[in-house]
Amino acid sequence: MSSINEEIEALKKSRNAVVLAHNYCRPEVQDVADFTGDSLELARRATQVDADVIVFCGVYFMAETAAILNPSKMVLIPDATAGCAMADMITGAQLRELKAKHPGAKAVCYVNSTAEVKAECDMCVTSGNAEKVMKTFASDQEILFVPDQHLGGHVSNMLGRTYELWPGYCPVHAALTAEAIAAARKLHPNAPVMVHPECAKAVRDAADERLSTGGMCAFARESDAKEFLVGTEVGILHRLRKENPGKAFWPVNDKLVCPDMKKTTLENLAASLREIKTRVVVPEEIAVRAKRAIDAMLKIS
Ligand code: 13P
Ligand code: SF4
Repeated sequence: MSSINEEIEALKKSRNAVVLAHNYCRPEVQDVADFTGDSLELARRATQVDADVIVFCGVYFMAETAAILNPSKMVLIPDATAGCAMADMITGAQLRELKAKHPGAKAVCYVNSTAEVKAECDMCVTSGNAEKVMKTFASDQEILFVPDQHLGGHVSNMLGRTYELWPGYCPVHAALTAEAIAAARKLHPNAPVMVHPECAKAVRDAADERLSTGGMCAFARESDAKEFLVGTEVGILHRLRKENPGKAFWPVNDKLVCPDMKKTTLENLAASLREIKTRVVVPEEIAVRAKRAIDAMLKIS
Protein backbone atom coordinates (compact mmCIF):
# COMPACT_ATOMS: atom_id res chain seq x y z
CA MET A 1 0.00 0.00 0.00
CA SER A 2 1.38 3.46 -0.87
CA SER A 3 2.04 5.88 1.99
CA ILE A 4 -0.88 8.16 1.04
CA ASN A 5 -3.27 5.18 1.06
CA GLU A 6 -1.92 4.17 4.46
CA GLU A 7 -2.40 7.71 5.74
CA ILE A 8 -6.02 7.75 4.49
CA GLU A 9 -6.76 4.40 6.15
CA ALA A 10 -5.24 5.59 9.45
CA LEU A 11 -7.14 8.90 9.31
CA LYS A 12 -10.43 7.11 8.58
CA LYS A 13 -9.95 5.17 11.82
CA SER A 14 -8.80 8.08 13.97
CA ARG A 15 -11.62 10.36 12.74
CA ASN A 16 -14.24 7.59 12.75
CA ALA A 17 -14.91 8.55 9.14
CA VAL A 18 -16.49 6.80 6.20
CA VAL A 19 -15.55 7.63 2.60
CA LEU A 20 -18.30 7.55 -0.03
CA ALA A 21 -17.36 7.89 -3.71
CA HIS A 22 -19.38 8.29 -6.89
CA ASN A 23 -18.83 5.84 -9.76
CA TYR A 24 -17.23 8.63 -11.85
CA CYS A 25 -14.42 9.35 -9.38
CA ARG A 26 -10.79 8.65 -10.21
CA PRO A 27 -9.94 4.91 -9.94
CA GLU A 28 -7.56 5.43 -7.02
CA VAL A 29 -10.25 7.37 -5.11
CA GLN A 30 -12.85 4.65 -5.75
CA ASP A 31 -10.34 2.11 -4.43
CA VAL A 32 -9.93 3.81 -1.03
CA ALA A 33 -13.66 4.45 -0.62
CA ASP A 34 -15.74 2.37 1.80
CA PHE A 35 -18.65 2.50 -0.63
CA THR A 36 -18.91 3.40 -4.32
CA GLY A 37 -22.23 3.94 -6.02
CA ASP A 38 -24.63 6.04 -8.06
CA SER A 39 -26.54 9.03 -6.68
CA LEU A 40 -29.41 6.92 -5.34
CA GLU A 41 -27.15 4.31 -3.73
CA LEU A 42 -25.01 7.03 -2.18
CA ALA A 43 -28.06 8.91 -0.84
CA ARG A 44 -29.36 5.67 0.69
CA ARG A 45 -25.97 4.78 2.12
CA ALA A 46 -25.72 8.27 3.63
CA THR A 47 -28.77 7.44 5.76
CA GLN A 48 -27.14 4.25 7.11
CA VAL A 49 -23.72 5.52 8.06
CA ASP A 50 -22.46 4.65 11.52
CA ALA A 51 -19.58 7.14 11.66
CA ASP A 52 -19.02 10.68 12.93
CA VAL A 53 -17.67 11.99 9.64
CA ILE A 54 -18.71 11.34 6.03
CA VAL A 55 -16.18 12.34 3.39
CA PHE A 56 -18.02 12.68 0.12
CA CYS A 57 -15.98 12.15 -3.03
CA GLY A 58 -18.10 13.39 -5.91
CA VAL A 59 -19.72 16.73 -6.65
CA TYR A 60 -21.21 19.31 -4.32
CA PHE A 61 -24.92 18.50 -4.72
CA MET A 62 -24.20 14.90 -3.66
CA ALA A 63 -22.37 16.02 -0.52
CA GLU A 64 -25.22 18.44 0.19
CA THR A 65 -27.69 15.56 -0.07
CA ALA A 66 -25.62 13.56 2.44
CA ALA A 67 -25.54 16.59 4.77
CA ILE A 68 -29.30 17.13 4.48
CA LEU A 69 -29.93 13.46 5.34
CA ASN A 70 -27.49 13.54 8.28
CA PRO A 71 -27.89 16.84 10.09
CA SER A 72 -26.01 15.49 13.13
CA LYS A 73 -22.97 14.26 11.21
CA MET A 74 -20.06 16.15 9.75
CA VAL A 75 -19.98 15.92 5.94
CA LEU A 76 -16.73 16.90 4.25
CA ILE A 77 -15.97 17.42 0.56
CA PRO A 78 -12.28 17.30 -0.43
CA ASP A 79 -12.66 20.03 -3.10
CA ALA A 80 -15.59 22.35 -2.50
CA THR A 81 -15.35 23.74 -6.04
CA ALA A 82 -16.48 20.38 -7.49
CA GLY A 83 -19.84 21.44 -8.89
CA CYS A 84 -22.27 20.14 -11.49
CA ALA A 85 -22.84 22.26 -14.58
CA MET A 86 -26.37 20.87 -14.93
CA ALA A 87 -27.31 21.58 -11.31
CA ASP A 88 -26.28 25.20 -11.84
CA MET A 89 -28.67 25.61 -14.80
CA ILE A 90 -31.59 26.54 -12.55
CA THR A 91 -31.74 28.69 -9.41
CA GLY A 92 -34.27 28.67 -6.61
CA ALA A 93 -35.57 32.07 -7.84
CA GLN A 94 -36.10 30.74 -11.38
CA LEU A 95 -38.00 27.74 -10.05
CA ARG A 96 -40.19 29.95 -7.83
CA GLU A 97 -41.01 32.04 -10.91
CA LEU A 98 -41.92 28.90 -12.89
CA LYS A 99 -44.10 27.59 -10.05
CA ALA A 100 -45.93 30.93 -9.87
CA LYS A 101 -46.89 30.49 -13.54
CA HIS A 102 -48.20 26.95 -12.87
CA PRO A 103 -50.30 26.98 -9.74
CA GLY A 104 -51.40 23.43 -8.91
CA ALA A 105 -48.39 21.84 -10.59
CA LYS A 106 -46.00 19.59 -8.64
CA ALA A 107 -42.31 20.47 -8.87
CA VAL A 108 -39.94 17.53 -9.30
CA CYS A 109 -36.17 17.86 -9.32
CA TYR A 110 -33.48 15.51 -10.47
CA VAL A 111 -31.09 14.97 -7.55
CA ASN A 112 -28.52 16.85 -9.68
CA SER A 113 -29.79 20.16 -8.32
CA THR A 114 -28.86 22.55 -5.54
CA ALA A 115 -30.33 22.27 -2.04
CA GLU A 116 -32.11 25.58 -2.70
CA VAL A 117 -33.89 24.06 -5.71
CA LYS A 118 -34.72 20.85 -3.82
CA ALA A 119 -36.26 22.99 -1.10
CA GLU A 120 -38.77 24.30 -3.69
CA CYS A 121 -39.78 20.80 -4.83
CA ASP A 122 -42.41 18.26 -3.88
CA MET A 123 -40.34 15.30 -5.01
CA CYS A 124 -36.78 14.42 -5.93
CA VAL A 125 -35.72 11.65 -8.35
CA THR A 126 -32.44 10.09 -9.44
CA SER A 127 -31.62 8.41 -12.73
CA GLY A 128 -31.92 5.09 -10.86
CA ASN A 129 -35.51 5.54 -9.67
CA ALA A 130 -37.10 8.26 -11.82
CA GLU A 131 -39.58 5.98 -13.61
CA LYS A 132 -40.72 4.25 -10.43
CA VAL A 133 -41.12 7.53 -8.55
CA MET A 134 -42.87 9.43 -11.37
CA LYS A 135 -45.38 6.59 -11.78
CA THR A 136 -46.77 7.48 -8.35
CA PHE A 137 -48.18 10.79 -9.64
CA ALA A 138 -51.68 10.75 -11.09
CA SER A 139 -51.55 10.76 -14.89
CA ASP A 140 -53.37 14.11 -15.05
CA GLN A 141 -51.11 15.81 -12.49
CA GLU A 142 -49.23 18.77 -14.01
CA ILE A 143 -45.49 18.27 -13.43
CA LEU A 144 -42.62 20.75 -13.62
CA PHE A 145 -39.45 18.69 -14.12
CA VAL A 146 -36.09 20.38 -13.46
CA PRO A 147 -33.28 20.75 -14.39
CA ASP A 148 -32.57 17.89 -16.85
CA GLN A 149 -34.66 18.00 -20.02
CA HIS A 150 -33.25 14.61 -21.07
CA LEU A 151 -33.98 12.58 -17.94
CA GLY A 152 -37.41 14.26 -17.84
CA GLY A 153 -37.94 13.48 -21.53
CA HIS A 154 -36.86 9.88 -21.03
CA VAL A 155 -39.33 9.30 -18.19
CA SER A 156 -42.16 11.10 -19.97
CA ASN A 157 -41.59 8.86 -23.03
CA MET A 158 -41.49 5.72 -20.89
CA LEU A 159 -44.66 6.57 -18.98
CA GLY A 160 -46.51 8.25 -21.85
CA ARG A 161 -46.96 11.47 -19.87
CA THR A 162 -46.17 15.09 -20.65
CA TYR A 163 -44.04 17.22 -18.34
CA GLU A 164 -43.02 20.86 -18.39
CA LEU A 165 -39.28 20.34 -18.92
CA TRP A 166 -36.66 22.85 -17.82
CA PRO A 167 -34.05 23.13 -20.63
CA GLY A 168 -31.07 22.03 -18.51
CA TYR A 169 -28.65 19.34 -19.65
CA CYS A 170 -25.32 17.73 -18.82
CA PRO A 171 -22.54 19.14 -21.02
CA VAL A 172 -20.54 15.91 -20.62
CA HIS A 173 -23.32 13.62 -21.89
CA ALA A 174 -24.23 16.16 -24.59
CA ALA A 175 -20.97 15.20 -26.32
CA LEU A 176 -22.24 11.67 -26.99
CA THR A 177 -23.79 11.16 -30.43
CA ALA A 178 -25.84 8.49 -32.18
CA GLU A 179 -23.13 8.45 -34.89
CA ALA A 180 -20.51 7.51 -32.28
CA ILE A 181 -22.74 4.63 -31.17
CA ALA A 182 -23.14 3.42 -34.76
CA ALA A 183 -19.36 3.53 -35.28
CA ALA A 184 -18.70 1.70 -31.97
CA ARG A 185 -21.24 -1.00 -32.87
CA LYS A 186 -19.30 -1.72 -36.08
CA LEU A 187 -16.18 -2.41 -33.98
CA HIS A 188 -18.02 -4.44 -31.31
CA PRO A 189 -21.15 -5.89 -32.95
CA ASN A 190 -21.94 -8.26 -30.07
CA ALA A 191 -21.74 -5.65 -27.33
CA PRO A 192 -25.00 -4.25 -25.92
CA VAL A 193 -24.89 -0.44 -25.70
CA MET A 194 -25.68 1.12 -22.32
CA VAL A 195 -26.18 4.90 -22.10
CA HIS A 196 -27.11 7.25 -19.30
CA PRO A 197 -30.60 8.83 -19.47
CA GLU A 198 -28.89 12.25 -19.37
CA CYS A 199 -28.08 11.64 -23.06
CA ALA A 200 -30.13 13.28 -25.83
CA LYS A 201 -33.12 11.41 -27.29
CA ALA A 202 -31.34 10.36 -30.51
CA VAL A 203 -28.60 8.79 -28.39
CA ARG A 204 -31.04 7.09 -26.02
CA ASP A 205 -32.92 5.72 -29.03
CA ALA A 206 -29.70 4.38 -30.58
CA ALA A 207 -28.79 2.47 -27.39
CA ASP A 208 -30.01 -0.88 -26.04
CA GLU A 209 -30.21 0.13 -22.38
CA ARG A 210 -30.77 3.48 -20.66
CA LEU A 211 -29.42 3.12 -17.13
CA SER A 212 -28.07 4.98 -14.13
CA THR A 213 -24.43 4.22 -13.38
CA GLY A 214 -25.55 1.78 -10.67
CA GLY A 215 -27.96 0.24 -13.19
CA MET A 216 -25.06 -0.25 -15.62
CA CYS A 217 -23.09 -2.12 -12.93
CA ALA A 218 -26.08 -4.39 -12.25
CA PHE A 219 -26.77 -4.97 -15.95
CA ALA A 220 -23.12 -5.88 -16.64
CA ARG A 221 -23.09 -8.27 -13.69
CA GLU A 222 -26.29 -10.05 -14.67
CA SER A 223 -25.92 -10.12 -18.47
CA ASP A 224 -24.48 -13.11 -20.34
CA ALA A 225 -22.79 -10.74 -22.81
CA LYS A 226 -19.01 -10.85 -22.81
CA GLU A 227 -18.47 -7.26 -23.91
CA PHE A 228 -20.31 -3.98 -23.48
CA LEU A 229 -20.30 -0.51 -24.99
CA VAL A 230 -20.55 2.16 -22.33
CA GLY A 231 -22.05 5.59 -23.09
CA THR A 232 -21.35 7.67 -20.02
CA GLU A 233 -18.53 9.33 -18.11
CA VAL A 234 -15.43 7.15 -18.38
CA GLY A 235 -14.85 6.88 -14.60
CA ILE A 236 -17.43 4.08 -14.47
CA LEU A 237 -15.14 1.84 -16.56
CA HIS A 238 -12.87 1.23 -13.57
CA ARG A 239 -15.65 -0.25 -11.47
CA LEU A 240 -17.16 -2.22 -14.37
CA ARG A 241 -13.78 -3.80 -15.18
CA LYS A 242 -12.90 -4.46 -11.55
CA GLU A 243 -16.21 -6.19 -10.81
CA ASN A 244 -16.33 -8.19 -14.06
CA PRO A 245 -12.84 -9.50 -14.79
CA GLY A 246 -14.02 -11.89 -17.53
CA LYS A 247 -15.89 -9.22 -19.52
CA ALA A 248 -14.72 -6.33 -21.72
CA PHE A 249 -15.99 -2.74 -21.50
CA TRP A 250 -15.45 -0.19 -24.28
CA PRO A 251 -16.26 3.51 -23.99
CA VAL A 252 -18.45 4.76 -26.85
CA ASN A 253 -16.53 8.04 -26.54
CA ASP A 254 -13.38 8.06 -24.40
CA LYS A 255 -13.50 11.88 -24.16
CA LEU A 256 -16.55 11.87 -21.88
CA VAL A 257 -14.83 13.20 -18.76
CA CYS A 258 -16.57 15.27 -16.09
CA PRO A 259 -13.85 17.66 -14.87
CA ASP A 260 -15.63 18.23 -11.56
CA MET A 261 -15.79 14.52 -10.78
CA LYS A 262 -12.01 14.39 -11.25
CA LYS A 263 -11.33 17.14 -8.71
CA THR A 264 -11.16 14.67 -5.82
CA THR A 265 -7.64 13.23 -5.59
CA LEU A 266 -5.93 11.05 -2.99
CA GLU A 267 -4.02 14.16 -1.89
CA ASN A 268 -7.06 16.39 -1.22
CA LEU A 269 -8.95 13.43 0.26
CA ALA A 270 -6.11 12.90 2.77
CA ALA A 271 -5.96 16.66 3.47
CA SER A 272 -9.73 16.70 4.00
CA LEU A 273 -9.45 14.02 6.71
CA ARG A 274 -6.28 15.47 8.22
CA GLU A 275 -7.49 19.08 8.44
CA ILE A 276 -11.26 18.37 8.73
CA LYS A 277 -12.23 20.40 5.66
CA THR A 278 -14.31 21.48 3.79
CA ARG A 279 -17.45 21.04 5.84
CA VAL A 280 -20.68 21.07 3.83
CA VAL A 281 -23.29 23.08 5.68
CA VAL A 282 -26.81 23.55 4.34
CA PRO A 283 -28.76 26.33 6.12
CA GLU A 284 -31.37 24.64 8.33
CA GLU A 285 -34.34 26.41 6.77
CA ILE A 286 -33.35 25.09 3.31
CA ALA A 287 -32.22 21.67 4.57
CA VAL A 288 -35.55 20.92 6.29
CA ARG A 289 -37.55 21.71 3.13
CA ALA A 290 -35.12 19.92 0.80
CA LYS A 291 -35.19 16.84 3.04
CA ARG A 292 -38.96 16.51 2.50
CA ALA A 293 -38.44 16.06 -1.26
CA ILE A 294 -35.54 13.62 -0.75
CA ASP A 295 -37.42 11.62 1.93
CA ALA A 296 -40.50 11.44 -0.32
CA MET A 297 -38.29 9.83 -2.96
CA LEU A 298 -36.53 7.43 -0.57
CA LYS A 299 -39.89 6.28 0.75
CA ILE A 300 -40.93 5.15 -2.74
CA SER A 301 -37.68 3.67 -4.06
P1 13P B 1 -25.98 8.43 -11.50
O1 13P B 1 -26.90 8.69 -10.38
O2 13P B 1 -26.53 7.54 -12.56
O3 13P B 1 -24.66 7.90 -11.00
O4 13P B 1 -25.69 9.79 -12.25
C1 13P B 1 -25.10 10.89 -11.64
C2 13P B 1 -24.58 11.84 -12.60
O5 13P B 1 -24.13 12.91 -12.27
C3 13P B 1 -24.61 11.47 -13.99
O6 13P B 1 -24.02 12.46 -14.75
FE1 SF4 C 1 -23.11 17.04 -13.53
FE2 SF4 C 1 -22.78 15.96 -15.95
FE3 SF4 C 1 -20.75 15.97 -14.24
FE4 SF4 C 1 -22.89 14.37 -13.82
S1 SF4 C 1 -21.42 14.24 -15.51
S2 SF4 C 1 -21.85 15.66 -12.31
S3 SF4 C 1 -24.54 15.69 -14.61
S4 SF4 C 1 -21.75 17.80 -15.18
